[in-house]
Amino acid sequence: MKKQKLILAYSGGLDTSCCLKWLQDKGFEVICFSANLGSEFLPEEIKTKAKQGGASKVYVKDLRKEFSQDYILSALKAGALYQNKYLLSTALGRPLIAKYLVEIAKSENAKFVAHGCSGKGNDQIRLELAVKSLAPELEIVAPLRSWELNSREEEIDYAKKNNISVESTKNKIYSIDKNIWGVSIEAGLLEDLGNSVPEEAFILTRSAQEAPENSEKLEIEFFKGKPVKVNKKSISLTHLIEKLNKIGGRHAIGRTDLVEDRVVGIKSREIYEAPAAWILYKALAEIKELVFTKEMLEFKEIIAERYADLTYRGFWFYELKNSLDAFLEESSNKLTGKVRFKLYKGNIITLKRSSKYSQYKKSLATYGKKDSFSREWAEGFINILANPFRRGK
Ligand code: ARG
Repeated sequence: MKKQKLILAYSGGLDTSCCLKWLQDKGFEVICFSANLGSEFLPEEIKTKAKQGGASKVYVKDLRKEFSQDYILSALKAGALYQNKYLLSTALGRPLIAKYLVEIAKSENAKFVAHGCSGKGNDQIRLELAVKSLAPELEIVAPLRSWELNSREEEIDYAKKNNISVESTKNKIYSIDKNIWGVSIEAGLLEDLGNSVPEEAFILTRSAQEAPENSEKLEIEFFKGKPVKVNKKSISLTHLIEKLNKIGGRHAIGRTDLVEDRVVGIKSREIYEAPAAWILYKALAEIKELVFTKEMLEFKEIIAERYADLTYRGFWFYELKNSLDAFLEESSNKLTGKVRFKLYKGNIITLKRSSKYSQYKKSLATYGKKDSFSREWAEGFINILANPFRRGK
């Protein structure tokens, strides 16, 4: 009997390497697909590893540009931040991976797709909701929900038994997901809330102690909500993000430690590193503050919260998200301007901001000479506001 073709979202890490073997044992012909969103695995190594693991074909696609342009930038414009600490790096990558899983399944004429996400995490939800919204006819196989391996230790034993190479890297100790928008680090000793994060767990950032004693100035320029220049030099969005990760990482920017609420109803602890994401989030917030009216700023808060929530919960290819994007596109037209920061030992300090759409009028704000504010209007204005407090009928 001819084997059924299946496309596996493959990273080369422990989970997906075990999946590759397990799925073949279940009778599938496995084609591996690996999306390069800026992970720590090298494309060539992934190809070799997947082939050695028995994949009949391997696709490795560099999707960093599409990721920056269509996923990261939307979230940045929205100001999406989950539970005050997470700029959604992992969550934003999943729908893009799903989009290509679907595309490859169609071109390969495969009826099955599979992933190596845990059965109690958010990523299974994000990937599967995205696949189901794009191609409801595909069947999804999730080995981690049904196989007999119940812990990372058992997976490592399974890998060893089946000649799957398990590098003795951090991956063994922590579960790490890395892309250009940030790193998520969990499991191992981090599961005990009494443990602080050991320095060696971090990938992108130095500690404040190790950061340079001298601060560094940084200027970012935006055009319609998109960061386009760093220190006056034009640069593509992907390179800009990668550059800010280096600069920010050196100055200990962007570490957060969050006990977060997962979609499946449990609290879990995740450590995040996102230097570029935090610098850009704060920089664009400065421009918004300058350009938007009070009503707009308040409304943007609602949008930001909804956007973060739908991204976190995996509702990316959905109606509400498209409509919010239309709002963001329109309202970002005025988000053009420059922000100058000083980075110093984990702090992002604003030095200057400017925009040709700035609503700030010095002549109205000043306490000095050349004041154009009409003080005599204030009394009548206050009296009107005080109407509810008037005594008598
Ligand atoms: N908690 C984060 C999220 O739900 C990251 C999940 C993946 N984390 C990991 N370390 N592999 O988006």
